Amino acid sequence: MCGIVGYVGEKQAQDVVIAGLRRLEYRGYDSAGVALVAGGVIASDKRAGKLANLEKAIADHPLPGSTIGIGHTRWATHGAPTDANAHPHSGGVRRVAVVHNGIIENFAELRGELEAADHVLLSETDTEVAAQLLELLVLSGLDLTAAMLQLVARLEGAFTLVAVDAHDRSRVVAARRNSPLVVGIGEGENFLGSDVSAFIEHTREAMELGQDQVVTITRDGVEVLNFDGTPAEGRRYHVDWDLSAAEKDGHDWFMRKEIHEQPRAVADSLLGRRTPEGHLHLDEMRLSDQELRDVDKVIIIACGTSFYAGMVAKYAIEHWTRVPVEVELASEFRYRDPILDYSTLVVAISQSGETADTLQAIRHARTQRSKVLAICNTNGSTIPRESDAVIYTHAGPEIGVASTKGFLTQLVACYLLALYLAQVKGTRYGDEIDQVMQQLEAIPEQVQRVLDDAAQVYDMAADHVGTRSVLFLGRHAGYPVALEGALKLKELAYIHAEGFAAGELKHGPIALIEEGLPVLCVVPPAGRDQLRDKMVSGIQEVRARGARTICLVEDGDDAITPYADVIIRLPKVPVLLQPLVAVVPLQLFACELATLMGHDVDQPRNLAKSVTVE
Ligand code: F6R
Repeated sequence: MCGIVGYVGEKQAQDVVIAGLRRLEYRGYDSAGVALVAGGVIASDKRAGKLANLEKAIADHPLPGSTIGIGHTRWATHGAPTDANAHPHSGGVRRVAVVHNGIIENFAELRGELEAADHVLLSETDTEVAAQLLELLVLSGLDLTAAMLQLVARLEGAFTLVAVDAHDRSRVVAARRNSPLVVGIGEGENFLGSDVSAFIEHTREAMELGQDQVVTITRDGVEVLNFDGTPAEGRRYHVDWDLSAAEKDGHDWFMRKEIHEQPRAVADSLLGRRTPEGHLHLDEMRLSDQELRDVDKVIIIACGTSFYAGMVAKYAIEHWTRVPVEVELASEFRYRDPILDYSTLVVAISQSGETADTLQAIRHARTQRSKVLAICNTNGSTIPRESDAVIYTHAGPEIGVASTKGFLTQLVACYLLALYLAQVKGTRYGDEIDQVMQQLEAIPEQVQRVLDDAAQVYDMAADHVGTRSVLFLGRHAGYPVALEGALKLKELAYIHAEGFAAGELKHGPIALIEEGLPVLCVVPPAGRDQLRDKMVSGIQEVRARGARTICLVEDGDDAITPYADVIIRLPKVPVLLQPLVAVVPLQLFACELATLMGHDVDQPRNLAKSVTVE
């Protein structure tokens, strides 16, 4: 939610900030703005709509040269996406400029206080309240760092604030509570960003900040203070991907590029997970074998696509370890008074590592003495930092708002976790674990085969331009795949889509079937006779009522042919691993259909990549 950039150095700050915002636009694209310090004043521009609107405005009315600045790309919370509500915000005499990500919960009270003292606020945002207060502190004689420390003492909620002072060309100051912010460390220049992609073209040296810290960047250094003013140290790390990983590589969309990166992402996420003796080894697993042996229940918490990865994990963990698993939407978790204690392992799945609902659920679990293991794609993000253990997925940066390679690599991490638990608890023999690992290691090539057949899926997408509703059916591990297929279509093509467990159809949803309604059916592998046969019956039932059936079926299974209007072939894989190959045509379908319908696939309406508000 919202992307933030700060820069101080020798380069033109406007260029650095705008380039950073371009890479952060996936975080929100309701409006964008930039503020520079030039000649003792704040020079700024901000526009509703995508970054391109701001870029055009600046091209028409250039801002003065400056080597210090901040920028923002917004996902609206308080106030509609208008020019006035766009960031940066200033105080009454425009001495400071502030950008903000998060929600200041006591803003109404603070706003009331400012208005009572005759301060005029120009926007509906909570951010402007912070800007006004910060400016008053600076005008009282404090430097920007000291003023920020005093300001944060008055704020409640979640926020990253980044500010500049018109009279101070040396520093950019930021504060962080429950909202992401990383520092980029350069030579004679330093950077701030919501994530490292904001500055990756300038430096791969980064510093993560803890909660409740204020950071001051100057050309020569970085100073970190806790909110109480005591000195603190950020953790420095090297970013192991570069700019090219965040570029489109000739694809029209980041999403399409990311779909095609999945064979590599899966392979990378499997790398280095076995010792020379063949045992599973998860090096970020900071829980001891005894702690894992004591686990008698697993609760998986996640949102959206990550939640569907968790649903698949349930089948694998229960089957391989015989430990009961609950899967819960993170946003619901702490409100239902969940039963958990020290022997419950809570698994939090998050691609971004910043999802507020998931983070709050983790905090609740830890207050109940449960151990939390994160499955995450973003090194240095908040969720792994606040967890007891982490399995990092190695998908590389996921820029398209709709998760694709994030999902596949989460599935891989879930299987690894399930097998690791089975190894520690002794619920599977070593050779059984080895067999599944070999099956997983064959997946990249099998995903590649599905991608090589994309043309057939693209033709099918062309046949569905104008379709108003699509249903997805699955069973067992194919049920979450059906849900994920429907989610992708909703968020990208804005088409009504629903996923169902095929067995549930006759309990109500079959009433939706009408002549010509497309129904995509994920058919389980034939090895699981009963499952596959039951699915065939479900397909017959909808077809008999006029549905147009599009069936995803493994190679060599012809039982479905008489009942399928379209057949999409999947490589033969075991039933538990089938989601890894079955979801790929559904991703391609949604991406292509949305493209043909003229939608912005990377930045669908109303969405943002990283949902850092509850
Ligand atoms: C859908 C999608 C979202 C995310 C969800 C959780 O394509 O991307 O549903 O999966 O917002 O995000 P993370 O995994 O970052 O916690």
